[in-house]
Amino acid sequence: MAKKLWGGRFKKKIDSEFETFSNSLWLDHRLLPYDLKIDRAHVNALRGCGVLNAVEASKLLKAIAALEKKYQAGQLKASEAHEDVHSWVQAELEKIAGETAKKLHTARSRNDLVSQSTRLYCKNHAEVLIQQIQALQKELVVLAEKNQAVLIPGMTHLQNAQVISAAHLFLAWAEMLERAVLRLQGSQIFFDVCVLGSGALAGTTFPLDQKKIAKELGLSQVTRNSYDVSGDRDFVLNILSCVVFTGLQLSRISEDLMIGQTKGNSLFDIDEAFCTGSSMMPQKKNADFVELVRGASSTFAANFVGILSLLKALPTSYNRDLQWDKRFLFDSVERLETILPIFSRLVKTLSIRTDRAKELLKDESLYATDLADYLVGKGLAFKKAHEVVGQIVSFAEEKKVAISKMGLDLLRQFESKIEGDVYDLFNPEHSVRLKRTQGSTHPAEIKKQIGFWKNKLKKA
Ligand code: ARG
Repeated sequence: MAKKLWGGRFKKKIDSEFETFSNSLWLDHRLLPYDLKIDRAHVNALRGCGVLNAVEASKLLKAIAALEKKYQAGQLKASEAHEDVHSWVQAELEKIAGETAKKLHTARSRNDLVSQSTRLYCKNHAEVLIQQIQALQKELVVLAEKNQAVLIPGMTHLQNAQVISAAHLFLAWAEMLERAVLRLQGSQIFFDVCVLGSGALAGTTFPLDQKKIAKELGLSQVTRNSYDVSGDRDFVLNILSCVVFTGLQLSRISEDLMIGQTKGNSLFDIDEAFCTGSSMMPQKKNADFVELVRGASSTFAANFVGILSLLKALPTSYNRDLQWDKRFLFDSVERLETILPIFSRLVKTLSIRTDRAKELLKDESLYATDLADYLVGKGLAFKKAHEVVGQIVSFAEEKKVAISKMGLDLLRQFESKIEGDVYDLFNPEHSVRLKRTQGSTHPAEIKKQIGFWKNKLKKA
């Protein structure tokens, strides 16, 4: 085992199983690029306050650059010999820069280091997630634009309810995802803090220029309270809540896709590339990807509860329990990052069965609300109109006749105000054109929405 960063006061060897148990390198090695960025800024700060001379600083900066290069080339392999990523980086720098590297850990602790490194990880990955969600939104807008003239039954309570444009559904998904983007953007303020200079808890005796460090790390704030930050992982809670939220939207979209592709509905055709077969039933093409996404959203929720219960009742400032935060963090963030690009490709290749949509729109109950509104236009109170249409629908169902095939005399037995123009109603194109409000499924409104998204996502 490598020499510990803290071994000085210890006379006994660490229990070897405890040592293995406490090791976090297998997990936190991902933080290496962030640790190196921090190291670079820290070297400059130590130089600024005279802890390092120019030669030492330059030697360390070169060592950091060399390590970065090695890492990017995939030539740096983490070995279990080191307790965590911070000890590993320290050891690697010592290998290159010798004794000088031992000065690097002046004016800092692993407490402020890990807090900073994890913040940088979150800041970076929140940006990645935002871009990935926006890429998915772009695909949804393309799909919407392509299918704006395709009309399908919209559902409530899992029952076909009223006619909508297929684009209306795809744009609804874009809206749901936009709320995920807004949450991620909103959580950035929690990552955007420089906590270096906090030391283990109390600050440090060396006058580090924290504003300069912040600037170098691309951060806009410097912490107000060192005692708070070493144990603060609220920002992990934040990003994980964003992941839960995004997962929730993806799970609902997955469910819509699942329902749309069932044999009974056959509205959507999910590309084979995102399906798998059955080992027993040769005919099967199962939409496993969306099922796995729906399932993954429960792991996001579990990780959120994990960090929540980890933080609950921890005293202020650093406690080793916090090391577990990464398990939840990396698992959720990286899984979501895997899902999103696949989801984009699924949407890109999704096809809508227009023949099947037409078939489903023959169900005239889809026009019942339009018929009630029509009666309001003829002077009936909506409640009365609702009752009349209910009777007509039930009569048609009972007698197995289409409402549009019922003669005017017959219809007038239900309500004398019905006129010949009633027959215009049983037409999907007409139905969507009747909708007048902003955000509705009227073709002009759909166009407006598509325009909005295209413009918005162009800037993304
Ligand atoms: N691996 C540790 C973690 O992730 C680093 C901080 C250790 N600090 C300490 N005082 N033992 O939390």
